[in-house]
Amino acid sequence: MNMNGIPKVGELLEVDAIGIDDRGQGLAKLEAGADERALLVPGLFPGERASVRIEALARHAPRAHGRVNELLRASPSRREPPCSRHEQHQRAPGDRRPKPSCGGCPLMGLNLDAQREAKRAWILREYGLELEGSGGIIGGAEFDYRWSSKRVVGGEPGRLRLGSRAAGKRRGDHIADMRGCLVDHPRIRDGFDALELQANELGIEPWREAGGDLRYVWAKTNGAQLLLTLICGAEPSRAARELGPRLHELGIADGIAWSVQSSSGNAIRGGAPQVIAGLAQLDLDAGLELGPLGFLQPNPEVAALAYRDLVALPDGQPMPPGELAFDLYAGAGVTTRLLRERFERVIPCESYPESAARLGIEPQTVEDFARAWLDAASPTPALIVANPPRAGLGESVCAALRELAAPRVHLMSCSPQTLAADLDRLRPDYQLIALRGYDTLPHTAHLELVAWLSRRPQTTRA
Ligand SMILES: C[S@@+](CC[C@H](N)C(=O)[O-])C[C@H]1O[C@@H](n2cnc3c(N)ncnc32)[C@H](O)[C@@H]1O
Repeated sequence: MNMNGIPKVGELLEVDAIGIDDRGQGLAKLEAGADERALLVPGLFPGERASVRIEALARHAPRAHGRVNELLRASPSRREPPCSRHEQHQRAPGDRRPKPSCGGCPLMGLNLDAQREAKRAWILREYGLELEGSGGIIGGAEFDYRWSSKRVVGGEPGRLRLGSRAAGKRRGDHIADMRGCLVDHPRIRDGFDALELQANELGIEPWREAGGDLRYVWAKTNGAQLLLTLICGAEPSRAARELGPRLHELGIADGIAWSVQSSSGNAIRGGAPQVIAGLAQLDLDAGLELGPLGFLQPNPEVAALAYRDLVALPDGQPMPPGELAFDLYAGAGVTTRLLRERFERVIPCESYPESAARLGIEPQTVEDFARAWLDAASPTPALIVANPPRAGLGESVCAALRELAAPRVHLMSCSPQTLAADLDRLRPDYQLIALRGYDTLPHTAHLELVAWLSRRPQTTRA
């Protein structure tokens, strides 16, 4: 370290990991006089001590990135990552030019209980979010749990590969191999493998900035049937014309659709999907349907536990029967259906046209919906359920929720960071009654949260 306590790139330091960060990397603190610098180290787990080589310093934040050179004290919960594509199997300690490896499961080198404990401690330390009771996180199966999975397409015609963008510096065109992924449902795993083979027989071109064809593939299953959506960089597309029908003829998927995504950046959802062959949608439980680009919680087994809790009281008792509830960011309508068991009228709101059409509503943003409801001075709902995307509710929706003044608001969130910010915005009118965590994506730092809020007694709608 220099005189100001700033580490130098290449330097070796002995550190203790105090937790994980939001990407599942080990977190150590470097003291530099009165200042503190976070050191992030992939594959280092809470309680471990290691000698770490500094690889980079963040320019605008007190943060450094390092790699384990030697593990000096291992966590008792450490294990050999079961997946052969895991970074730990692709890179020896100190290796500076590793093969592109899949960074999708950064916590896989810890047993499942310790992964969940690391996530609990992370959201408490970083965002002040305290899970109720003993803080146990609710979870399910460790493998084969993903019913919705995406792949980036890379490689060359004839040697095209489906994978993920490789972790670390060597990004760009480097696609990490994900064949045999342990967390995908077997239908999806087999579907991706078979698609890769067929695409290579046909010599389908992967998409690149300069042009090309197949860009992403999105697979979804209902546990039995498989829907594959080919997301191509431009029209016309050989993948859509030749590969799609072939996948259906060979029985590789039950439904094939395609969509165009030509924008730069990493957005996956393209324009309106078109069915190429077979099923246009998957039937989910209880009459729900899911189209080629509609939102599906990746882990329905654990998500079902979260949905069940989301529409009930925090102690698990059913909501008292009521007249009106809103289901904001309704997606495929799972919670809309559950709420209809308790409420005379449930109004879903959803902005994505494909999902809105399936719900039988006009696509509308929550912002517009809430504004129109307030302007019409319509009745106050007894319950508002909201499950926003990662960006959270944000300023304007929180302001509208405060004005709507429902006695109860139940939030589901996939981002502790934005949930904490939304809870702060709602705090003047709403009290947090309970917070529970659901491990919908084992081996990642992801955590799904359900928060029960109740309106403070002194505030009433103006
Ligand atoms: C996290 S998903 C939740 C979907 C559903 N509640 C579920 O659990 O399956 C968020 C949903 O909100 C929709 N959405 C995103 N931004 C929106 C907005 N501003 N207004 C309304 N819906 C939005 C997305 O299309 C997506 O279906």
